[in-house]
Amino acid sequence: MRNPLLVIPRAAFEEDFVPAGGRGGRFAWVTAPPLIKTILLDESEKFRKLAQIRLLGPLLGEGILTSEGAEWKWQRQAAAPVFRHQDLLGFVPAFVRAAEALVARWRAAPQGAVQPIARDMTRVTFDVISATLLPSADDTVAPAVEHAMGRFQRAGAWGQLYAVANLPAWLPQPGRLSMRHSVLSLRASVAALLRERRAGGEDSGAKRDDLLHRLIAARDPETGQSMNDEQLVDNLLTFYLAGHETTARALTWTLYLLARSAEWTAALEAEIERVAGGAALAGEHIERLVLAQQVVKESMRLYPPVPMMSRQAVADARLGGHEVRAGTSVVMPMYAIHRHAKRWQNPDAFDPERFAPEREAKLARYQYLPFGAGPRICIGMAFALIEATAILATLLRRARFAPVEGHEPLPVARVTLIPQGGMPLKVWTRP
Ligand code: HEM
Repeated sequence: MRNPLLVIPRAAFEEDFVPAGGRGGRFAWVTAPPLIKTILLDESEKFRKLAQIRLLGPLLGEGILTSEGAEWKWQRQAAAPVFRHQDLLGFVPAFVRAAEALVARWRAAPQGAVQPIARDMTRVTFDVISATLLPSADDTVAPAVEHAMGRFQRAGAWGQLYAVANLPAWLPQPGRLSMRHSVLSLRASVAALLRERRAGGEDSGAKRDDLLHRLIAARDPETGQSMNDEQLVDNLLTFYLAGHETTARALTWTLYLLARSAEWTAALEAEIERVAGGAALAGEHIERLVLAQQVVKESMRLYPPVPMMSRQAVADARLGGHEVRAGTSVVMPMYAIHRHAKRWQNPDAFDPERFAPEREAKLARYQYLPFGAGPRICIGMAFALIEATAILATLLRRARFAPVEGHEPLPVARVTLIPQGGMPLKVWTRP
């Protein structure tokens, strides 16, 4: 329970399908691209998100991450237009502003001071979500949500919600009560955002065509119904949680890797200079920051922010030559899939050249899946890639990073892949 990464057997890094069992019930580790395609795409109706829904449901209700079938589909369709690529590029100045605000805080500290990078990245990506998808006219709302979210995380609740495979419901869960409290206060503070928007009518909010506006306006095509307040809170919370922790972890591990690679740091600094010169970073620069994107992708290969996904078979199925009985949990450990001996050369080495455009095009579709795949693929994928590239470029323009001697952070699987003991790095800022 403390670190589910440690339970991934060595065989999952070498084989396509590794059956397992035991007291937690039947399950299997699945790592081969064609088998993953069967689960997530071809026969996705047989493989359901039951464990995820059971675990996250108390927090996220029946929002887009934790619903299935028709209930999921219309919510996904309602949110999708907010994630159009062209519109996302318009958010780049907001991404840059959030990163610059962090650099300003670093500047106030002595040069070379040790900064808590994991926490700092969470702060930046939280500011981004509050400023772009869920802006509020009232300055007190975002800090209230941030505060409740911090309490929720400190209670260890996010971590406890995680289970590798169908952990039985009777398993004792430490801190259930404190978790229940923090869930309630988190939901209450998100509900305040909604109330404020409803009270302010159409004028409220920094940008009218934002995610919250879309969700309020959406109608279920089958019933014509709009989302009630409960469902709106479910989704707001889903986007807050799914949309910032993950990108924060991608940035944290990317800075960890760059702090140990003078070569790639220099290559990125030169690229940023070439592409943007002295100009403020804007949407049009992002696709030209090719090396920066390669580094982010390679970092998510080695340290996938969501380290594993699971589904439960609700009918008997076949995965390649293997029979999978109804009730089996199939676990897709991205952490092992991305370091699989059969599919990656020198799998544990940091080599962003793997994602050079012509080489990336040759990768099998289901061999690299930081954002999942199939119809339930991360809706925020393009948002996250643009955001991570813009924030990384801004930080590298303004600061240098070095490891703290003697601190080698161990990756630990919670809902996201966190560095045990945080990610302290030494930071030098420049004008
Ligand atoms: C590097 C950053 C991110 C990573 C690695 C990531 C990863 C994932 C993964 C693996 C899934 C699929 C889970 C499954 O099928 O079991 C997912 C779903 C989802 N993600 Fe992300 N995510 C990231 C950023 C974001 C952002 C920025 C947002 C929102 C702004 C977001 C919102 C969502 C939502 C709403 C879903 C559920 C989609 C559905 O079920 O239809 N994610 N994400």
